[in-house]
Amino acid sequence: MAATPSTGNKPGGVIGWIEERSGISAVVNAGLHVRIPMSANTMYFGGIALFLFMIQAVTGTLLSLYYKGTPEAAYKSVQYLTSDVSFGWLIRSIHHWGANLMILFVALHLLRVFFQGAFKFPRELTWVFGCLLFMVTLGFGFTGYLLPWDQRAYWATVVGTDIAGGVPVVGETLRLLLLGGSDITGDTMSRFFGIHVLVLPLALAGLLAVHLILVHQLGLANPKKMSPRPPAKNDPNEPLRPFFPHYVIDEMVAWYIILAVLVVLSSIWPAGLEEPANPILTPMHVKPEWYYLAVYQLLKLIPIKIIGILTPIIGIGLLVIWPFLDRSPEVLMRRRKFAVGGATLIVIAMIGLTVYGYVS
Ligand code: HEM
Repeated sequence: MAATPSTGNKPGGVIGWIEERSGISAVVNAGLHVRIPMSANTMYFGGIALFLFMIQAVTGTLLSLYYKGTPEAAYKSVQYLTSDVSFGWLIRSIHHWGANLMILFVALHLLRVFFQGAFKFPRELTWVFGCLLFMVTLGFGFTGYLLPWDQRAYWATVVGTDIAGGVPVVGETLRLLLLGGSDITGDTMSRFFGIHVLVLPLALAGLLAVHLILVHQLGLANPKKMSPRPPAKNDPNEPLRPFFPHYVIDEMVAWYIILAVLVVLSSIWPAGLEEPANPILTPMHVKPEWYYLAVYQLLKLIPIKIIGILTPIIGIGLLVIWPFLDRSPEVLMRRRKFAVGGATLIVIAMIGLTVYGYVS
């Protein structure tokens, strides 16, 4: 007689069937049934960034069903999608706003981690993988911008690739590699399309998997207490709360609000489309998107070009290696005056440059 699968605490039905053939419950339990410090305060930014990535993957896949990645057809396909396909405008607008919000929330998540000192021992690697995720997210913005092939897309890409061309030593090679030639052509579009829909999503998924495994293995940081050396996952004196369902439900509420914000923004300000790209007609005001505006304005303000270009590169380099420079275990903001004060000044300067770039 065959053994009944649904005895004892074992689930029956479809779940029991899958469990018997995969042992998946051990993985789910390890992922969900963890406890996090009562005082951990993530502000839900990392989870929101994750949710926005999922939204981008779904809306991007739907867009690719209609999009045609050649200079002759791209503009018309986006026009058709926006005006003729049912809810095409909504999907495109959610993808547009989702991209902006994803960059914003990844940046907010980075700042939250920095100010709470959550990048310190033992989370240095989580931080480094986070920095790579940040760069990949910015890469999505850069490569996606060209795809509608309208005037704004074309000329913003001219500005962006010119900046890349100014990087010392490797600049010209980098520009040629990005463009697939000396100008923006169909080859550039194929490259940007391939990078946008294949290379970057795979890179982001892989980096994210490592990032989240590290977060799971190390637990969330306590913003009020330094992490012990060697790290202890369960400090007996630490008040904890269950990740599931408590934290998960809070996070779901945040996701629900973000979804509402996306739909409202898309309905009020749907993604637009300018005139088709014209390589011989430079528009009056060519500016990159807001997330590149601070760097763009810095380049305009600093008269010595090389210093302007090296400043953001050194800035990003410093960001990546920061946990290895700031090695004190102190996490309280009031005791980290130099780091917290310096970072606040940099954030204010970047916001100032962005606003200046926007109005000038
Ligand atoms: C696509 C981008 C990213 C996603 C989806 C993501 C996702 C997450 C999630 C879900 C968590 C746990 C909950 C939370 O802290 O909100 C987390 C934690 C963390 N992330 Fe990210 N992250 C991203 C980018 C970054 C960046 C840019 C950095 C910093 C450079 C970073 C550094 C960290 C660190 C150090 C932790 C552990 C924080 C702690 O223990 O309190 N992440 N990330």
